[in-house]
Amino acid sequence: MVMIKVLVAGFKGRMGNTTTKMVLENTDFELAGVYDPSASESNLSELPDFENEDVPVYTKAVDIDGSTIDVWIDFTSPVSVYENVKFALSHSISPVIGTTGLTNDQVDELKKIAKKNKVGGLIAPNFGISAVLLMQFAQQAAKYLPDVEIIEMHHDKKLDAPSGTALNTAKLISEVRKQKIQGNPEEKESLIGARGADYEGMRIHSVRLPGYVAHEQVLFGGQGEALTIRQDSFDRISFMSGVEVAVKKIRDYDELLIGLENLL
Ligand SMILES: NC(=O)c1ccc[n+]([C@@H]2O[C@H](COP(=O)([O-])OP(=O)(O)OC[C@H]3O[C@@H](n4cnc5c(N)ncnc54)[C@H](O)[C@@H]3O)[C@@H](O)[C@H]2O)c1
Repeated sequence: MVMIKVLVAGFKGRMGNTTTKMVLENTDFELAGVYDPSASESNLSELPDFENEDVPVYTKAVDIDGSTIDVWIDFTSPVSVYENVKFALSHSISPVIGTTGLTNDQVDELKKIAKKNKVGGLIAPNFGISAVLLMQFAQQAAKYLPDVEIIEMHHDKKLDAPSGTALNTAKLISEVRKQKIQGNPEEKESLIGARGADYEGMRIHSVRLPGYVAHEQVLFGGQGEALTIRQDSFDRISFMSGVEVAVKKIRDYDELLIGLENLL
């Protein structure tokens, strides 16, 4: 069987390290390269965790030979992800993107490039099955309980806020409910930011604490009742089954998809 040749961008980071191990362990995948500008190694085998793995390390995109790679997995940073995805799409490499923080305009631009080049790709704000289900359940609940607030909780090294998952949850909810001003129209914040960020009338609150990984609660309030939907990702390994599915399926498409649910 032909193995899928994979590059992991951001391999020195928290998610990149877990992903590199997953790719090496999967017998359907071949790790064709790893990329991270912060790397000082030229081969993965120089790292104690990977001493038997002869895999080239790239520190500049221009050095990457696109013809040797089928799928580009990206867990990098909000400032680098756009250029990385553009590079992958223009070299006919299918991007599987976990990095959050892309703007709507950037996503639209990338969708156009994917369509023009007929390359399949996925941007998934969350690869965890529990988070995908939470988003689906929240959209369902919002049809009946339109007053909603979102609390997302992450580790304190996270760069972007709110999280991609919280934004996506709000976006999905806004598809099924009319724009709505919640709370008291006369309310005043005596401390700026106390009511959180505003997405079409929905409030999103971002918590950053050591010890946390990735967690989200969606709170609905109705007449005399309330509903809370919560998901917890306790370990980065929880994202890996979603990444595996995406790497296996993404080359069957010829457009850029948003959300893991499109592949499940
Ligand atoms: N979609 C999901 O399920 C999911 C889950 C967890 C985290 N994330 C997201 O993944 C991203 C990475 O998170 P993390 O905790 O691993 O961050 P991290 O800071 O630990 O790692 C990021 C790595 O990317 C590297 N990097 C920076 N610019 C780069 C470039 N141009 N090319 C290649 N590598 C580059 C950095 O040197 C660093 O090693 C964040 O955006 C985070 O929100 C997504």
